[in-house]
Amino acid sequence: MLLFKRVLDLQKYLLTQKNKGLTVGFAPTMGALHRGHISLIDRSRAECDITVASIFVNPTQFNNAQDLEKYPRTPERDIEMLTESGCDILFMPDAAEIYPDGTTPSVKFNFGKLDRVLEGVFRPGHFDGMAQVVHRLLDIIQPERLYLGQKDFQQAAIVAKMLEILKLKTEIVTCAIVREEDGLAMSSRNVRLTVEDRPKAALIHKVLTEAADMVGEYNPSEIQKSSLLKLKAEPRFKVEYFEIVDGRTLLPIQLFEDTDFAVAVVAVWVGDVRLIDNVILKQIIEENAHDTEGY
Ligand code: PAJ
Repeated sequence: MLLFKRVLDLQKYLLTQKNKGLTVGFAPTMGALHRGHISLIDRSRAECDITVASIFVNPTQFNNAQDLEKYPRTPERDIEMLTESGCDILFMPDAAEIYPDGTTPSVKFNFGKLDRVLEGVFRPGHFDGMAQVVHRLLDIIQPERLYLGQKDFQQAAIVAKMLEILKLKTEIVTCAIVREEDGLAMSSRNVRLTVEDRPKAALIHKVLTEAADMVGEYNPSEIQKSSLLKLKAEPRFKVEYFEIVDGRTLLPIQLFEDTDFAVAVVAVWVGDVRLIDNVILKQIIEENAHDTEGY
């Protein structure tokens, strides 16, 4: 695996590869890698000639200074995992490479309501910073395909909207959530759970699975109510939201019949670690539709 720290070096190398007609797949990350991240690399390797991963803990998307400070950093192990996975290129820039003119965004995107609901309510400014860095990384790498995880469902929806606004030809590939054996969605933040809290965190996925089982017999508000009760019964949990939304607009739905794409999304503090997860409750995929495996 080749490691680049400088934008110009990476661009120079990628140009030589693109000139040979090779396609580029890109998976942006903030490091502290786990099998969920590696699943994006695997998918890119299966579909593209060259796979680029990035590791950059983007300061502009942290709405909480403590979260940024406590964000796990494991660069040596990350490099090992990426090398083992067969990733071709790792881009690991410092902040001066990504933000040479400072961190004030040069573009402010209008995502409509997409960035004002769910995470947007609880993490003000987060999606502006996320869009800013993904925009910058896409501009540097210009991949044919961008690999994102369904784990960050709202993030994927917002990045899709950004590509539409920028009229970029990059295709988004959303990859299924990789979970621990007990169902907990893999996350870099899981290592911060205490030994006592770690098993309790599996309740999040259990409640989501039970919500999926209720579809057909119950309406969204009944499922939401029952799910909230179960989550709130755990004293170590502080629930921020549990919502059943349309997978495209991210707005709450009244009836499952009203949409062909329904998702249950949840954010919970487990002790002092904030976790998010989601599960698709209903999805009718049109024939010849865009590839949305994982959704
Ligand atoms: P990070 O949290 O490191 O996640 C990088 C990518 O891995 C995201 O697309 C995320 O959805 C995906 N991912 C995380 N956990 C996953 C899991 N359990 N299964 C499958 N995929 C998973 O998301 C970010 O970084 C940042 O916001 C970033 C896009 C890099 C911009 O800074």
